[in-house]
Amino acid sequence: MFRQTPPMGWNSWNTFGGNINEQLIKETADAMVDTGLRDAGYEYIIIDDTWQEPARENGHLVPDRNKFPGGMKALADYIHGKGLKFGMYSSSGYLTCMGLPASCGHEFTDAADFAAWGVDYLKYDYCNRPFRIPSDLLYRRMGLALANCGRDILFAACSWGADGTPEWIRGTGATTWRSTGDICDSWASIRDLGCAQADKLLSGAINCFNDMDMLVVGMNGKGNVGVSGCTQDEYRTHFALWAFLASPLIIGCDIRSIDSDALEILKNKALIAVNQDPDGRLPLPLGGPAPLAFPGKNAFSMSRLMSNGDIAVGMFNMDDSTDVLFQFSVYDLGLDPALGQTVVITDLYTGEEFSPVEGFVYRGVKPHCCCMLRLRVIMQ
Ligand code: GLA
Repeated sequence: MFRQTPPMGWNSWNTFGGNINEQLIKETADAMVDTGLRDAGYEYIIIDDTWQEPARENGHLVPDRNKFPGGMKALADYIHGKGLKFGMYSSSGYLTCMGLPASCGHEFTDAADFAAWGVDYLKYDYCNRPFRIPSDLLYRRMGLALANCGRDILFAACSWGADGTPEWIRGTGATTWRSTGDICDSWASIRDLGCAQADKLLSGAINCFNDMDMLVVGMNGKGNVGVSGCTQDEYRTHFALWAFLASPLIIGCDIRSIDSDALEILKNKALIAVNQDPDGRLPLPLGGPAPLAFPGKNAFSMSRLMSNGDIAVGMFNMDDSTDVLFQFSVYDLGLDPALGQTVVITDLYTGEEFSPVEGFVYRGVKPHCCCMLRLRVIMQ
């Protein structure tokens, strides 16, 4: 399936782990509409691990009869009726990470069943795989099965960036690929996953987006991957970094009871627009011809050319205790201040508008915070 922009949606794992059922998924679909998240762009409702009976029946995966008594087709119909799309989960191994039957050796059967149920998205994990089969072949098989199943199903690979994933994943038919291990609801996890992207940026592209894992915004320490929780500033930095680097934006909190702070972050139109920019340009470090790597592990700034000619700038202070004064000149962006070329700047979190001072932009950023800007070019 071709996708120009990173997928957006919700996944059950971060908050609910194995405690999922039909009612929860329907209520979540309702909440996606009622909160305005659907209209902000979040469209996939994705059921993660533990939806299936503990054994195949007649060679087929069967939805858990207690959790999903109505079956998956009826649930898909309900979700589609809300103007949303339906996602499911399996693994490239014999068993899922939770030890339930997975798709290795059954790829074409399962893809056909997913298509018949009305599935639009398949997250495909890496647990319990047979080591004698090369990793790329496990993903090539499901990619091929989905490409021939008669339905447009987004293939969301989840091999955690392991075993050379970036070298082969784009060839398998995957539209997104998980580049790291699992996220937790803590600042340390956000910082580590964020900083681990430095050598992965070149491997993300339109139609094969680098998936930095589901969002923890709004979890506040509760749920399956809830650890300490984060401050609102930390959630803002998390969302901004995922949005800026064109990661899929897959919400992980319980949106049935989401708080207004989380909703405000997740519905930030200006940041979603950066994430969904159709040109999918690579982020570049700000400040000269540095190699494609974050200039410092704890504080880095990047720019991205937008499809309308604007420039998005992200400044991230991942340090625990030091305030950072970021600065760049419009010259670093490709403009010549001597010719009167400049920019008008909008802060994407505060909405504040301002101009460079003698060609320079300065922003102080507190620990665990970020500053997100969009620059409109002015030719005098
Ligand atoms: C792996 C994945 C997670 C989640 C669990 C489910 O750990 O990386 O995102 O899907 O499996 O068991």
